[in-house]
Amino acid sequence: MKDGRASFTAMAVAAARALARDADPTAPSLLPAPLGPALRRWQSLPPWARALRLAPRLASAGLVDHLDLRTAAIDRELRDAVDAGACTLVLLGAGFDGRAYRLECLRDVDVFEVDHPDTSAAKRRRAAGLTARSRSLVHVEVDFDRTSVASALAEHGHDAAHPTVWIWEGVTPYLPADAIAATLEAIADRSAAGSRLLMTYAVPDLVGRSAPVLEAVVRWGFASLGEPLRGAMEPHEARALLARRGFSTLRDTTARQWAGSRRLAFHLARPLRAERLLVGQMR
Ligand SMILES: C[S@@+](CC[C@H](N)C(=O)[O-])C[C@H]1O[C@@H](n2cnc3c(N)ncnc32)[C@H](O)[C@@H]1O
Repeated sequence: MKDGRASFTAMAVAAARALARDADPTAPSLLPAPLGPALRRWQSLPPWARALRLAPRLASAGLVDHLDLRTAAIDRELRDAVDAGACTLVLLGAGFDGRAYRLECLRDVDVFEVDHPDTSAAKRRRAAGLTARSRSLVHVEVDFDRTSVASALAEHGHDAAHPTVWIWEGVTPYLPADAIAATLEAIADRSAAGSRLLMTYAVPDLVGRSAPVLEAVVRWGFASLGEPLRGAMEPHEARALLARRGFSTLRDTTARQWAGSRRLAFHLARPLRAERLLVGQMR
């Protein structure tokens, strides 16, 4: 990330969610002007203008459809975890995620949004006009490269005695292996039995070996935004990492599975298809 600035990728993914079907009505409020207000107008387009929505889907190189599918998949897993007894949600690298403001299933859940201080400060400023639907909402500033997430959460009142659901969405690809391992250690330390971790990760072969040019362009794009891809893992490595910290794998799904019958969305999302969603449960 560039010093002193909110994460660009966090803004990009929130903008993509705003452009997607109905993925996130809160995103325009969480983004700066003129982008936020423009996206609000976009979301209020009349039904006859809906065909226009295909334009950003085609122009975003897969981002809009990928984020639409990923958001819906994680929302489903989150509801499942809450139904199974989680009473706390921790969003690690929360960015401009609007779940605390848009999901009714969080009404009896305490939410902690953990992020880098630069992104967290921007989020708090912009979210001032939104009302949280969660039972409570606490912002925790942490640099995963330098600070312990476990002690920061303890200081902010996180309850480690009851099950927590952790969302670590779109963050591990940007972290070095030791920061991923240290954060997992902290998650495990504060996870009562039954806690769930919803972690997205990227496999090293980003777009498929058949498209080396596309792969190079994708890597160059992230690096030039100051957020190079550093933390790719093979599925067996990701599962082993979780298993070493006491998490059994419940599901490890791909974009094809998130898409279900939405075949156009799956095909448009190709440049980001290497991302998977691993759901672990603390034994
Ligand atoms: C791609 S964004 C994902 C945001 C959010 N999870 C979402 O899906 O909308 C990556 C997030 O990781 C955070 N991040 C990146 N490096 C970090 C670090 N070293 N410490 C704390 N947060 C970091 C950024 O601030 C940003 O919010």
